[in-house]
Amino acid sequence: MNRYLRAALIAGAALLLMQLVPYGRDHRNPPVVREPRWDSPATRDLAKRVCFNCHSFETVWPWYASLAPASWLVTYDVREGRRHLNFSDWQDGRREGESPAKVGKQIRSGDMPPWQYLLAHPEGRMTHAEKQRLIDGLGATITSSVK
Ligand code: HEC
Repeated sequence: MNRYLRAALIAGAALLLMQLVPYGRDHRNPPVVREPRWDSPATRDLAKRVCFNCHSFETVWPWYASLAPASWLVTYDVREGRRHLNFSDWQDGRREGESPAKVGKQIRSGDMPPWQYLLAHPEGRMTHAEKQRLIDGLGATITSSVK
C-alpha cells in the first residue's frame, strides 16, 4: 500500500477511536443561578461577548465541541473556566477569579481570553479602549457584588 494512503488510514482510524472516549460530550448549560450586580448593561454586554463562553452557563458550544480531540479542549476550558469565575453562579468572592485585581491582571496581560480561543472567536478580540472599559466595569461590578 502507498505509504501516504496508509498514513491517512491510520490517522482516520485514530480520529474515529478518539470519538469513543466518553469525555467532552456533556454540553449542558445549567440554569442561571445568580449574576453579580452589574455596574452597567455595557459591562455585561462586553463580558458576554468576550468571557461568557467559558465563564457562565450561557456557553455557545461550537460544532467542533462535538468532535474529539477539539471537544476535550473546549470541555476542559469551560469546566475550568466556570470553576474559577462564573458570571451565572456568583459566589460573593468565594470563587478564585471573583477579584478585581485578578480580572484586571488577566485582561491586561492578555492571558484572558486565551489566545487559542481567539483563533476561532474574532469577536473575543478587544481594542485597547474596550479592555480598559472591561477592567473598570468588572472592577466596579465585583466590588459592589462581593460582600
Ligand atoms: C476559552 C475559555 C475562556 C475564555 C473565553 C475566558 N477565560 Fe478566563 N479562564 C479560563 C480557564 C480555563 C481558566 C482557569 C485556568 C487558568 O487560569 O488558565 C480561567 C481563569 C480565569 C480567571 C482566574 C485566574 C486566577 O488567577 O484564579 C480569571 C480572573 C479569568 N479567567 C477572567 C477572564 C475574563 C475577564 C475573560 C474575558 C475577558 C475570560 N477569563 C475569558 C478560560 C477562559
